[in-house]
Amino acid sequence: MTSDVINARVTFRKSPIHMLERFTFRDVDSAYESFLRHSGLQECVILQTCNRVELFGCTVTTDLEKIKKTWASVAGLEENAFKDNLEISKGIDAYAHLLKLTSGLDSLVIGEEQILGQIKDSISTARGLKASGDNLNTLFDKAIRVGSRVRQATGIGKGSISVGSMAVNLAEENVDDLKSKHILLIGTGEAASLVAKSLKKREINFLVTSRTFERSKAFAETAGGIPIPFDEATSNFKSIDVLFVATVAPYFLVTYDRVKEAMESGKDGMLIMDLSNPRTVDDKVGTIDKIKVMNMDQIAQMVDKNMQTRMGVVSSAEQIINEELPVVEAAMKRLEVEPIVTNVFKEIDQARVKELKKALQMLGEKDAQKIRIIDQLTQAIVENIMSIPMNNLRKASEQGDSEILKTVTKLFDYKTRE
Ligand SMILES: NC(=O)c1ccc[n+]([C@@H]2O[C@H](COP(=O)([O-])OP(=O)(O)OC[C@H]3O[C@@H](n4cnc5c(N)ncnc54)[C@H](OP(=O)(O)O)[C@@H]3O)[C@@H](O)[C@H]2O)c1
Repeated sequence: MTSDVINARVTFRKSPIHMLERFTFRDVDSAYESFLRHSGLQECVILQTCNRVELFGCTVTTDLEKIKKTWASVAGLEENAFKDNLEISKGIDAYAHLLKLTSGLDSLVIGEEQILGQIKDSISTARGLKASGDNLNTLFDKAIRVGSRVRQATGIGKGSISVGSMAVNLAEENVDDLKSKHILLIGTGEAASLVAKSLKKREINFLVTSRTFERSKAFAETAGGIPIPFDEATSNFKSIDVLFVATVAPYFLVTYDRVKEAMESGKDGMLIMDLSNPRTVDDKVGTIDKIKVMNMDQIAQMVDKNMQTRMGVVSSAEQIINEELPVVEAAMKRLEVEPIVTNVFKEIDQARVKELKKALQMLGEKDAQKIRIIDQLTQAIVENIMSIPMNNLRKASEQGDSEILKTVTKLFDYKTRE
C-alpha cells in the first residue's frame, strides 16, 4: 500500500493570531513522540512560527480524528477546539502548500525570508528525532529547493515589507509626528530588530531595553537605539508616547497597573504596539483612557492591504510553483516503487550468487581472474534483463499508473516476502 502525505494546520488565515498559541506544542520532542505513537502517522514534521502551527504527516491510512485527538491532547486543548480554523490538505495539495510556504507565498508578509529558515530547522529537527523518513525528507528537500528557486527567480523577498516596518507604519498612521515622540522598544530579538531597522531608516530616535543591559547595549550598537536598564524601562512608562513590545516573555510585561500609574501622572496618552505572540501586553491595558493597544492582528490587516500592490511578483512565483509541482509529485510517486525495486534486485542478486557458487563448484574453478569474469558476466546478464522493466516500473509510478505497481507486487510476491 502507498503512503499519503497530509498537512493539518492552524494559521493566521483562519484564526486570530493571538489565538494561535493555544494550538502550539510547547514541548516539541514529546509532541513528536505522541504523534508517532498515537496518531497513526508513520512520519511527521512539526512547523511552528508566530503565524502558524502546522503538522505534515505521512501514513498508509489517514485517520484525521486520531490526528486531531493527539494534537488536542499534546496542546492541552478540548477536542472540539478545532473548528473551521483547522485546514487540511492531502497528497498533491499538501505538496503545493509546502511549496507555497517555502516560497513565502503563504506568509503574512509575502516573500519574507524567515519561513524558509524555519522550515529548514523543522525538517532538520524531525530528521534528528527520526520522526521523518523517506517521504517527508524527500518532500521537504524538494520544497526547500523550489522555495530557493522562486526567491532567486522572482526576487519576491526583496520588495517585501517587514512586520517591523508595518508596525512602524501603523504607529505613524495613529500618532502625529512620530519623530518627535518618546519611543521605547522592549525586546532585542529578531522581531525587535525589524522594528529598530525601520525606525532607524526613518531617522527616528528610540530607547531599547532587554532583560540584560549588556544585550541591550550590543543590540543598540548594531540595530540602533539608546539602551536603558530593563527594570527602569518597564516600571516607568510616564515619559513614553509609543511603546513597541516584541518579546517571548511568558507573562505580561506591560501590566494594567503600570500603565494606569503612568497615566495618573497626567500624561497625554500612549500607543502600544504588541508584536508578541503570545501577547505580552495585558488586554486590560486597552481599557485605560487615552491608551491605544495594537497587536499582530491589526498588523496582519495592514499587510493584507500592502499585498494588493505586489500581485505581479506573486503570479510569477505561482507560475514557478505550478511548473515544479509535477516534478515534486513524480519524485514522491517514485518513492512508492523504490522499496519494490530494491527488493527485486536484492532477491535476484541472492539467486545469482547462489547459482554462481554452485556452477563454480561444479567447474572446480580456482583461477581468480576467471572467477571474476564469470561473476561480472552473471551481474551484467541480471542488470541487462532487469534494468528496463525496473525503469519502466519507476516511470509508470511517476505517471501514477498504480495498476503496474500492483501487478509487479503480485508478480514478485513482494508483500508476502516483507
Ligand atoms: N521574528 C519575527 O519575524 C516575528 C514576526 C512577528 C511577530 N513575532 C513575535 O515577536 C516575539 C519575539 O519574537 P522574536 O523572533 O524576536 O524572538 P527572539 O529573537 O527569540 O527574541 C526574543 C526576545 O524576547 C526577550 N525575552 C525572552 N524572555 C523574556 C522574558 N521573560 N522577559 C522579557 N523579555 C524576554 C529576549 O530578551 P533577552 O535578551 O532578555 O533574552 C529577546 O529580546 C514573539 O512573540 C514572536 O511570535 C516575531
